[in-house]
Amino acid sequence: MIRLDDFQGTPEDLAEFITPVWRETYQGRMVYPDWAGDFFRWQMRWDAPGSRRHMIAAYDEDRLIATLLGTSFPVRADNELIRGSIWSWMTIDPEYRGRGLATLLDRDRVRRLQDEQVDLIVSYRYFGSRHSLAEQPKKVQAKPKKFNRTVGLWVRVLDPRTVGRWSLKAVDGWMSRLSFPLAKVPGPGKLDSFIRRATEQDIPRCVELVREQTAGMPLTMAWDESTLRHQLLGSPLVTTLVLERSGAVEGFVSFHILDWVGRMSGKVGIFDLIVTDRLGSGAALALMNAAFRTMVEKGAILTVKVRTGDVPASLMWRCYFVPRPADSHLILQWVSLNREISSRSPIHLLWR
Ligand SMILES: CC(C)(COP(=O)(O)OP(=O)(O)OC[C@H]1O[C@@H](n2cnc3c(N)ncnc32)[C@H](O)[C@@H]1OP(=O)(O)O)[C@@H](O)C(=O)NCCC(=O)NCCS
Repeated sequence: MIRLDDFQGTPEDLAEFITPVWRETYQGRMVYPDWAGDFFRWQMRWDAPGSRRHMIAAYDEDRLIATLLGTSFPVRADNELIRGSIWSWMTIDPEYRGRGLATLLDRDRVRRLQDEQVDLIVSYRYFGSRHSLAEQPKKVQAKPKKFNRTVGLWVRVLDPRTVGRWSLKAVDGWMSRLSFPLAKVPGPGKLDSFIRRATEQDIPRCVELVREQTAGMPLTMAWDESTLRHQLLGSPLVTTLVLERSGAVEGFVSFHILDWVGRMSGKVGIFDLIVTDRLGSGAALALMNAAFRTMVEKGAILTVKVRTGDVPASLMWRCYFVPRPADSHLILQWVSLNREISSRSPIHLLWR
């Protein structure tokens, strides 16, 4: 008998279910991330009270057959502080597809969030490959789920030769090889003496900076000290660099590294926060280049940032990011409230 329950098991058990299903579904056809236990331990805030309520699993007797995972976050929607959540990893064992499990998991999620008075579900649906099985808009008319906008990535190649071999599409491989002269990451300069790893003491200032940068956006993560501390310092997978002058942190960037599987596995640096509004352009560039160097040291071949207007495009161009065409739908699914978020305004959300 099939039943829905909180996920029972360790982060490693979760990865051992999800990653092989994605591999079986997409390997050789579409790039997919290879999540490991540590990633879920961080993302799901594994030991926080109530985190299991956001790890929904379907079991056939004792066999794990599907998952849907999320994390709750305070969000600011049109200047109103609301309870939000970011969800991903809808994964159904191929043997159990086409039986309405996706709908069951979604309904159970909504029920759980209604109980907790969470107002908003943020999620993404990838359409950048014909092989993607993610839900597409034509299927979804029902309110209050809203395909808010399409989003793409800023992409910067760090290791053109390896990306050339790693890319599934020949054209991407060639583009990457051609980027060779631009891809070289500049060495440290004068400003690098002001750049260092973030520490616990930086968190209050980082909260101030990110709030300042995202003020006025109609939808943003409403970072507080607890959520930002976890995001910036909560895992060995994360690196956060700050730029501090005259005793004051003026900007920071934060990224994590994930394996993405194309023709082979390659490490990708994913920027979650780029907060540089207070920095002059030279200092912002120095901070980005320091992040690239750290990524290269960790073996990254590519770096990405979701493009939602929360980072100045001029900075991204200057450090040789290229905007890729939109390839995912951003879905805002309202649970109790119902708000209209303009599809054109800049917003600041995590991308998962
Ligand atoms: C995507 C996947 C979960 C769909 O599983 P499935 O059993 O084939 O699901 P179905 O096609 O029966 O979909 C059932 C319904 O759930 C809906 N649905 C699909 N994904 C959904 C999601 N993430 N959230 C909410 N509803 C979803 C579908 O729109 C469909 O609605 P409809 O019946 O009104 O058309 C499955 O193919 C899978 O595990 N793929 C590999 C991982 C993956 O790509 N996950 C998607 C990440 S966005």
